[in-house]
Amino acid sequence: MLIFKPLFTSLVFAVTISMAAATTAQASEASAGLQLARSNNCMSCHQVDQKRVGPAMTVIAERFADTEGAAAHLAQSILKGSRGQWGPVPMPAQSHVTDANAKLIAAWILSLNDKKVD
Ligand code: HEC
Repeated sequence: MLIFKPLFTSLVFAVTISMAAATTAQASEASAGLQLARSNNCMSCHQVDQKRVGPAMTVIAERFADTEGAAAHLAQSILKGSRGQWGPVPMPAQSHVTDANAKLIAAWILSLNDKKVD
């Protein structure tokens, strides 16, 4: 049994390391999304977890958590604008955003839903 102990210890160590690496990767993906939202001027009307002019990103994520094709739908809303979904104020088309970035930001918004984790 004693022979296996060092092996077991290094296995636990390796698993711990790879879990830490995965967490770091997730965190940097999240901040890349936030960076994009900032650099595309989204955060002048939105906040991550509070209503501003537009709904909180986390609340959008919650509403679309179980919706099929949500990422594509949100990317379209970003590119074409949205009205009447959340309140009286419409979101103008964000025509400065590229297709690729709209998809990345939509995926980031959806990733903010905590319910997906559990
Ligand atoms: C001028 C203010 C403003 C800016 C800038 C803005 N938004 Fe919005 N956004 C809003 C408002 C207001 C709504 C709610 C519109 C509605 O009721 O349909 C909204 C709604 C949304 C929705 C939900 C759409 C849906 O289909 O339910 C998403 C996603 C979104 N915004 C993302 C973004 C992103 C990403 C950016 C940056 C590229 C951005 N917004 C920039 C004001 C803004």
